[in-house]
Amino acid sequence: MSTTSPTDRDDAARAVLRRNDRGGFTVPNGRVYPFQWNWDSAFVALGFATFDLDRAWRELETLFEGQWEDGMVPHIVFRAPAEGYYPGPEAWGIQRQPLTSGISQPPVAATAARVLHDLSAGDAARIRALFPKLFASHRWWHEIRDPDGTGLVTMVHPWESGRDNSPDWDEPLSHVVPSVDVAHLRKDLGHVDATQRPTHDFYNRVMTLVEEAKALAWDGVSVARTLSFRVCDLGIQSILLRADRDLLKLAVELGFSTEATALRDWIARSETAMQRLKGADGLYRSLDLRSGRLSEAVTCAAFLPLYARTASREDALALKEYLAATRAVAGFSVASTDPRDRRFDATRYWRGPVWLMMNRMIADGLSGYGLTEEAATLRQDSGELVRRNGFWEYFDPRNGAGCGGPDFSWTAAMWLSWSGSPSAAQALTAL
Ligand code: GLC
Repeated sequence: MSTTSPTDRDDAARAVLRRNDRGGFTVPNGRVYPFQWNWDSAFVALGFATFDLDRAWRELETLFEGQWEDGMVPHIVFRAPAEGYYPGPEAWGIQRQPLTSGISQPPVAATAARVLHDLSAGDAARIRALFPKLFASHRWWHEIRDPDGTGLVTMVHPWESGRDNSPDWDEPLSHVVPSVDVAHLRKDLGHVDATQRPTHDFYNRVMTLVEEAKALAWDGVSVARTLSFRVCDLGIQSILLRADRDLLKLAVELGFSTEATALRDWIARSETAMQRLKGADGLYRSLDLRSGRLSEAVTCAAFLPLYARTASREDALALKEYLAATRAVAGFSVASTDPRDRRFDATRYWRGPVWLMMNRMIADGLSGYGLTEEAATLRQDSGELVRRNGFWEYFDPRNGAGCGGPDFSWTAAMWLSWSGSPSAAQALTAL
């Protein structure tokens, strides 16, 4: 175990963020991910907020400079040319400035904005400017990505979930017929060991989805209705519901009353619809909207209905049991796939490893239901992973070994704002 004192480690975390800062926006990791990513920026803002609030706001503001006219906040903003990443701007084929990808990512931004606003001591200028953009992005999810108003939002590409290679997408992706072969274009295998990265077959299928969307000229509703991968991701669904609640608080405080009414309607609709995501064993899952089938695997997203504050007391107790059972097998919590599942793979992307920002949201959820001991355990595990190994992208749950890219922005941000900070609150925002 390393002997670095907490202060040194805090300095190291701040240095990671400063080094990955490209002038108002932060890259997740300079080599593997050299652009601005959507939910990474929201988490990174929480880290900056611990020592430079102005810079924290800037992170969200620059992210929203990539927002489309229909409200979508892209999953990548290609702010400046960079080598070493595929698929770069040319693969998405989108003509706009700044260059962006054509899909989104889990909407953590409104929750992050509420945290920053709470720290801003009554100065509402920045949240007032950002609010309409945040609201437009929520409208995009609830209207463009739920064109029939079912209360369940559609994702059309595994990367929108942010849990890119989760077993949740195996079945729906198996019905996508690959029409491209992109193996020779990949750059990730030059940076990270192939056993920790997705397969070529996965890349061929997901890039087929990009070609399908291009053929529709990226028209939002057509994409939502017709792409050959259409899933309600339990992660996005829960994170959006939580972010709706945070945005509603802001709307009420700032006097955006029409927006508050819309948010209340969306929240009510989502809460009712969430019941369709519950499996026979009482645990929540993602739903393949094409086949109507729930995913088989139980993944770390199963805890996010707690974060959304939509789980019942009974659900919370079931999740408490489930957490204890998986921790007993895996070692460090929370493994991204149930370690007892045949699809579990301790080091492969989203098929087993622990991610600190997932732990942060799950701990928030646990403490929201009074499960403070469990929330503290997650914080303890998350701190220990960093103390032993540093700011890796993700960690092997069996032994805590760092995997993926080193000096990762969101891991440093989670250390500063949560796992390394004795004074950090368990819950992100008060609901
Ligand atoms: C990977 C992760 C995704 C993240 C991105 C940048 O694609 O799966 O969640 O946003 O890396 O860190």
